[in-house]
Amino acid sequence: MQRRVLLGLAGTLPLGCTAVAQSSAPGLRELARARGMSFGTAVRSEKLEADPILSALVAREADLIVPEWEGKWDVIQPERGRFEFEPLRAVMRFAQAQNQRVRGHALLWHEAMPRWLAPALAEGQSQAQQILETHITTVLAETRAGIRDWDVVNEVIAAPPGGDNPTPGSGDLRPTPWLAALGPGYVERALRIARQADPTLRLTINEFAVYSDTPWAQAKRDSLLRVVRGLLERNCPLDAIGIQGHLQMREPFRPEPYVAFLRALRALGLAVLITELDVREPDVLAPTIEGRDAAVAEYAGAFLQASRDGGVRSFLTWGLTDRDSWLVLEPGVARRDGVVTRGHPYDAELRPKPLRARLAQFFSA
Ligand code: G3I
Repeated sequence: MQRRVLLGLAGTLPLGCTAVAQSSAPGLRELARARGMSFGTAVRSEKLEADPILSALVAREADLIVPEWEGKWDVIQPERGRFEFEPLRAVMRFAQAQNQRVRGHALLWHEAMPRWLAPALAEGQSQAQQILETHITTVLAETRAGIRDWDVVNEVIAAPPGGDNPTPGSGDLRPTPWLAALGPGYVERALRIARQADPTLRLTINEFAVYSDTPWAQAKRDSLLRVVRGLLERNCPLDAIGIQGHLQMREPFRPEPYVAFLRALRALGLAVLITELDVREPDVLAPTIEGRDAAVAEYAGAFLQASRDGGVRSFLTWGLTDRDSWLVLEPGVARRDGVVTRGHPYDAELRPKPLRARLAQFFSA
């Protein structure tokens, strides 16, 4: 589908995208691979099917893709015992056609839970264990051929006091229906079930807000390291840590503490990867689009470089374009002044932005 479609569509592409389509410049996937790295992005099956220009861009830029919503409990097991894999299969079919890998996201999370799940978990530990085991083993059996790396658990670390949404009082683990039902060993249970179900699958713990230079983020980094060290000391299977990378420009960033954190994870024998990179602009925006885009690219560039210095070789953005981004659609995250934030490599008209150029430069260095 790649260049042939892009050139074929060139007559109908928005101006900026035509430039991308007709350029003989390699896509980000080729640039990254040439340096021993990989670039990917989150996708939505309904957008891939409905928007040939976007899907051609995803095909050209991404070596790996991750389903934005298709791999979560509310979609996959909407009722207890009823599994719905078609949306996830659509993502896997796209990846196969484009010779892309797929990351799985997410086998256990406290959000995107179907209505039946939390009450069922609360009925007792043995039932909760059985529900977790059935879900993980069923999903891994279905996706074994197409997905070799799953976020087994997502966002399990408590928010330290003093942040936007502190969840103190639960030790290092966020208080969730999973913690309530299965106790602090639930992370280990999920990882052991996954390893048992698929011995060669890469098992990843995925976490957010562990990059910035603040006491709050440092406390969260320390919590994650304590949890990970505890798991490994108990010989719990674990292969990688996903750093989501939802960057917020209001947060100060200094490479040193973040790089030290990544190197500490690497020293434990774990891979580290950036799983959901995008950028939320500061509360006070630069006066021009050019100024805003340049600031976004610069902030993200510093994070990319520090991530590579810390041992990261796999980088995914949470979508390629500002169009349909959770940063724009989700009321709790979107700008209160209604300004459409510009935190992705392409704008809403699929024109490349300075962040796309910064990524190309980063993967070419
Ligand atoms: O479930 C419907 C589906 O039936 C329908 O066909 C499809 C297309 O319209 O939409 C689906 O609905 C929404 C879906 O996004 C696609 O828009 C869900 O209701 C909505 O809850 C879902 O939100 C996603 C959210 O996770 C919850 O799953 C966001 O797109 C996605 O950006 C967000 O991603 C999370 C990561 O998983 C974890 N890290 C934070 C990140 C942002 O919150």
